[in-house]
Amino acid sequence: MTSAILLTGGTGTLGRHVTPLLCAAGYKVRSLSRQARPDTDGVEYVVGDLLKDEGIEPAVAGAEVVLHLAGSAKGDDAATRNLARAAAHAGVRHLVCISVIGADKVPIGYFRAKLGAERAVADSGVPWTVLRAAQFHDLTLTAVRALARLPLVPAPGGLRLQPVDARDVAARLVELAGGDPAGLVAGLAGPRVYTMADLTRGYLQARGKRRPMFPVRVPGGPGRAYRAGANLDLDADKGTRSWEDFLAERVR
Ligand SMILES: NC(=O)c1ccc[n+]([C@@H]2O[C@H](COP(=O)([O-])OP(=O)(O)OC[C@H]3O[C@@H](n4cnc5c(N)ncnc54)[C@H](OP(=O)(O)O)[C@@H]3O)[C@@H](O)[C@H]2O)c1
Repeated sequence: MTSAILLTGGTGTLGRHVTPLLCAAGYKVRSLSRQARPDTDGVEYVVGDLLKDEGIEPAVAGAEVVLHLAGSAKGDDAATRNLARAAAHAGVRHLVCISVIGADKVPIGYFRAKLGAERAVADSGVPWTVLRAAQFHDLTLTAVRALARLPLVPAPGGLRLQPVDARDVAARLVELAGGDPAGLVAGLAGPRVYTMADLTRGYLQARGKRRPMFPVRVPGGPGRAYRAGANLDLDADKGTRSWEDFLAERVR
């Protein structure tokens, strides 16, 4: 049977892995983006902006499942409210949403907005599933690359991460989209916990470089939350690809 699915965020880091998996699973995929794109084999692109509340109703019309991955630094709560309202109105039978581990604990605007997005999904009246994932390898690489450019590399003390591969998250989301609505499911993190210094050292090693590091303290509430491990979920399901695997593929 072919189900119609609306995918948001299909053009992003995660969404680019999700799109071919949905096609391979036999979905009729409609992908919403702020920019017009030509349709490809198995994917219809529609234009809409979740934050501006533009183009959402026609995008949702006819979709049985909505897989919501769109996100940005600000406003994911408001954007998700707009999408959830339209999904309820259209009679969508399953709304699946990606969130972040620590959404309920880390006192930073991005995490608060993700928690607001989770609430918008749970309060929508549409049967739902939310997966909280750890930081993707891609974003971790962007961060350590920037740090490693400095002659003296700062190593934020007490900041630990469980970076996960976006391909592992994509596979789990497609599995969840094909299942029954399950509420807030077990989180998904990478196979290991690393300090920022471990991650940066791994990157430098993969590049064949050495840099001196010096400890820095993340100040205020966010610093306390990170030192307490509020961004970690040690009981989360684990992805298969490690940071080292990712570096071996992406860094020469
Ligand atoms: N990166 C991480 O480490 C991480 C960890 C846990 C959870 N997450 C969550 O996973 C999701 C995907 O992250 P990502 O890293 O793949 O993001 P990304 O590469 O930055 O891509 C963002 C996606 O969101 C879409 N988008 C942004 N604002 C939009 C708007 N107003 N209306 C419609 N679409 C909009 C973009 O589409 P267009 O530009 O084509 O419009 C793009 O497809 C996000 O919800 C993020 O919060 C990320």
